[in-house]
Amino acid sequence: MIVVTGATGNVGRRLVELLTAAGERVTAVSRRTAELPAGVRQVRGDLDDPAGLKDAFDGADALFLLVAGQDPQAILGAARAGGVRRVVLLSSQGAGTRPEFYRHPAAFEDAVRRSGLEWTILRPGGFHSNAYAWAESIRGGRTAAAPFGDVGLPTIDPADIAEVAATVLREGGHAGRVYELTGPAPTTPRERAAAIGAALGAPVRFAEQTREEARAQMLQFMPEQVVEGTLAILGEPLDAERQVSPDVERILGRAPRSFADWAGRNAAAFR
Ligand SMILES: NC(=O)c1ccc[n+]([C@@H]2O[C@H](COP(=O)([O-])OP(=O)(O)OC[C@H]3O[C@@H](n4cnc5c(N)ncnc54)[C@H](OP(=O)(O)O)[C@@H]3O)[C@@H](O)[C@H]2O)c1
Repeated sequence: MIVVTGATGNVGRRLVELLTAAGERVTAVSRRTAELPAGVRQVRGDLDDPAGLKDAFDGADALFLLVAGQDPQAILGAARAGGVRRVVLLSSQGAGTRPEFYRHPAAFEDAVRRSGLEWTILRPGGFHSNAYAWAESIRGGRTAAAPFGDVGLPTIDPADIAEVAATVLREGGHAGRVYELTGPAPTTPRERAAAIGAALGAPVRFAEQTREEARAQMLQFMPEQVVEGTLAILGEPLDAERQVSPDVERILGRAPRSFADWAGRNAAAFR
């Protein structure tokens, strides 16, 4: 049985679908309930309350773990006690490139490495689905606002992260590996807004924000340290953050999906 945390999220929801379709028994953990495929065991749980996860972990073989909650050792201890032998951690590119800002994922990576479990770490860069932040302004006024409009980064489709996670959870041969996950090519925020316009068949205006405007907006839903790290990646990416990684293609045997492909499949959110 595989336990999936974050089962209501962009990656987790798709991962639950893929594992179920492959015939795996799945326990989906989240604080909210969600509509999930038939046969999935849904357990309400909070990663901030590891003791409360005992029921979710009971009889599990593998765990897809999100960076959430403050005590990764306690989460992994509860998982081990329930029978988990393999853990796949959804970390973040920043844990490798800017650990001074991304302390939370870096602490989870450290705990996973010391857990005594068979571990694999996934380090994605920015997600295509971060463009959902534009849904309201595109629906209401055909406008997308972002800072650093002409800086390109190879954002990744969360569905590709889910497919990589499903493969690693089910197959052997990925123990002790850290995979850097990116999309197929860098795109700029201006190009992403245009791709959504193309998917809608109606142009979307791009409005460049100042760093301060973006900072104020991001502080509403991210801790300050992560905001500073994210602004640094978006505005002054390091070579390692601009680079397209071969890992998705190596694991899935196909190229990662482009932003335009994601926009086409998710156009309804912007209509
Ligand atoms: N977006 C990016 O660009 C990016 C880049 C690199 C890494 N990441 C990492 O990828 C993760 C997943 O991204 P996503 O787009 O799938 O996120 P998402 O759609 O916002 O989903 C987050 C999931 O985490 C669950 N969650 C949050 N806090 C929890 C807690 N304390 N206990 C249990 N579940 C909790 C939420 O479920 P409930 O609210 O229902 O509990 C939800 O299912 C992010 O959390 C981040 O660490 C994101």
